[in-house]
Amino acid sequence: MDLKIRPIKNNVYYIGSKDANRKLFDQLVPLPQGTTYNSYLVKGSEKTAIVDTDYPKKLEEYKKRLQENNINKVDYIISNHAEQDHSGGIPMLLEMFPDAKVVTNAKVKENVMNMLHVPEDKFIVINDGDELSLGDKTFQFILAPFVHWPDTMFSYLKEDKMLFTCDFLGAHYTKHELFADYTDCLVEAAKRYYAEIIMPFRNFAKKYTDKVKEMDVEIILPSHGPVYDKPEWILDLYTDWTSDRVENKVVIPYVSMYESTKMMVDRLAEKLEAADIMVRMFDLVHCDEGELSMELVDCATVVLGSSMVLAGPHPAAVTAAYLVNALRPKLRYYSIIGSYGWGGNLEGTIEKMFTIIKPEKLDYVVIKGQPRDEDYAKVDVLAQQIIEKHKSL
Ligand code: FEO
Repeated sequence: MDLKIRPIKNNVYYIGSKDANRKLFDQLVPLPQGTTYNSYLVKGSEKTAIVDTDYPKKLEEYKKRLQENNINKVDYIISNHAEQDHSGGIPMLLEMFPDAKVVTNAKVKENVMNMLHVPEDKFIVINDGDELSLGDKTFQFILAPFVHWPDTMFSYLKEDKMLFTCDFLGAHYTKHELFADYTDCLVEAAKRYYAEIIMPFRNFAKKYTDKVKEMDVEIILPSHGPVYDKPEWILDLYTDWTSDRVENKVVIPYVSMYESTKMMVDRLAEKLEAADIMVRMFDLVHCDEGELSMELVDCATVVLGSSMVLAGPHPAAVTAAYLVNALRPKLRYYSIIGSYGWGGNLEGTIEKMFTIIKPEKLDYVVIKGQPRDEDYAKVDVLAQQIIEKHKSL
């Protein structure tokens, strides 16, 4: 149990928790490096505030940390977002500090009241641009809906040029002590996090990346992962990820029961790579969805490979199609390839999954049994079609 609090700058402290051994977020997202739940203490000359709290399973540790460090006066609990990995500690803090008020926007208030049953008289509701004085420090609030919930907001500590961005610009990363280490490993963690959490709201993320770039910010303090004392580092990554630019890259998630689909996938990959196209293949039976999501951030084309099960696509392929659609990557083209034994419809069920994104459909190659020469020829035609399309990227 780590009970230390860490000074950041000018009476702003890190008081959150590291959860390096957590394996899964939302019972869905793999966490190869665990995560952190960032909570910050801001001491002004007159008032003290906590910005975001902690994950419910970490609250015992969180409480001890506050007690061990003699944090015995808190006036405001600023809640940037109601999801319980950040709001989970609000009821406990209100018990510890009965005079404290939860400062937040109307949507967070509604969500926190519904999820955690916090009484209405505990809230101070702010609007976009409103300010809160701690004496010698002033918070300004910036509503930032849909990065990633409708309730999300940022809190800007004006005198110290610190911006608390909640989930936006975060990372499931635990290798740091406090500040970002700016390594390739962090780039990967931040990209994985962006893909899973923020990419479905790419246009909003782009808007708020531009907005933060226009602000006078020296330190970015998200609610997961490290604190950035070089804000441009993470903002430049977001500028790229949220842009319309795609890589000369094809992602091939596939599932193959008797190797026939795999033989087609291998042939397609061989032809594409021979044309200097980057190919990323994912065997869906053993794949880390986070790695697949990360490759979707900037790939131009997805080719989904599937065997047939009970006259339809393999469930793993349907799940992958659902994920691709839900994450809303800036995909330009897609195709389906696969093999069946006695019959069925591979394409229809998968096509129906694309309800949100509308990439251009390329030729499908669906064959019976193991690929023959004429089937490989069809795969080669698809490869050539992709090569031609990618020339215009
Ligand atoms: Fe880290 Fe949307 O909560």
